[in-house]
Amino acid sequence: MDNSLYKKYSPTTNTYQFMVHSPGRVNLIGEHTDYNNGYVLPAAIDRTIDLKFSRNDSSNKCSVYSKQYNSTFIFTLDELPKAKNPWERFVIGVVSELMELSENIQGFDCFIDSYLPIGSGVSSSAALECGLATGLNELFELGLNQWDIIKLSQRAEHNFVGTQCGIMDQFASVLGKEDHAMFLDCKTLEFEYIPMSIRPYCLLLLNTNVDHELSSGAYNKRRNECEAGLDVLKEHFEHVSTLRDVTKEMLDTCAESMGSTVYKRCSYVIEENQRVLDAVQALKNNNLKEFGNLMYETHKGLSEKYEVSCPELDFLVEYSRTESRLLGSRMMGGGFGGCTLNIIHSDAVESFVQDVSKAYYEKFNIQLSSFQALPSQGTFITK
Ligand code: GLA
Repeated sequence: MDNSLYKKYSPTTNTYQFMVHSPGRVNLIGEHTDYNNGYVLPAAIDRTIDLKFSRNDSSNKCSVYSKQYNSTFIFTLDELPKAKNPWERFVIGVVSELMELSENIQGFDCFIDSYLPIGSGVSSSAALECGLATGLNELFELGLNQWDIIKLSQRAEHNFVGTQCGIMDQFASVLGKEDHAMFLDCKTLEFEYIPMSIRPYCLLLLNTNVDHELSSGAYNKRRNECEAGLDVLKEHFEHVSTLRDVTKEMLDTCAESMGSTVYKRCSYVIEENQRVLDAVQALKNNNLKEFGNLMYETHKGLSEKYEVSCPELDFLVEYSRTESRLLGSRMMGGGFGGCTLNIIHSDAVESFVQDVSKAYYEKFNIQLSSFQALPSQGTFITK
């Protein structure tokens, strides 16, 4: 590829037509339930990836610059190249999926800057995919709606990144609403905004700084294990189409035929779906203590039954019990690293972060980082 193109089509920080702000997300509860047609309760957060877009004067030359990687990806639309760096796979993925839907994409420049930690379980991947898709939809007036953007971004992740993810992250990033969580039924895609004013408590994220990027193999494996469990259940019970239709009693009757690992995975998913329903009720009743307890139970399930935690995450969740003004803690997202999500009284944040950072460093020799997240609006555009 001719690198001199970059000079000609160079995106600069100053000249652009509009900027897309694409948020990360937290998931309050309902982990690894989305691809099992279950329930989730995420929220978009006040940290975004910002993407500046402009058309250039070519019909097919594109240039995408990532500030974090200090790298420019140049390609032509008629011959999409293989991605050389991981982040380029997202770009190729989204552009390819868009080109399946429309013939109207032409040359463009894009400048990407991120205020979201990468690989930390706050869904920088979905933010990037949905931000790109939203920007190109606007730039070339493709006429796609928000669900088109959510679904094509998920397909980009499946087909070009290789993670067989569910719909939660893309959904939360695009459709988030300020001060609200979103209760999504991943089977019907119906959802409800749940008011989330938890002051004087707040959402605190503790980042293990253990990168989970290499875990997509384990993620896909969990998905396959759940599908294997479902196949066994379908043989025994005619009306079952998802794990949601299954009670613990029904699962127990199939325990032997599915083997202990698959049994554990399915058992976690069935319990987690119920926890989401209970958590929504607790939130509606403003019962944050109950909500916090459910978070702890989720963590236990993810650690012991679903086996997607890691020593660093388990340590942080266990340590959280030393602070009485902290109501609940759990690992968040796909697992194997990334962040824990904590509900904690605002007055306790500073001293708790100090203590836990010290203890974490002593144990793992890794610097902890932390930030607070506010439920915020989904993808938006500014000029
Ligand atoms: C990742 C995936 C989501 C979801 C979570 C686990 O973030 O992208 O679809 O499965 O893991 O809940």
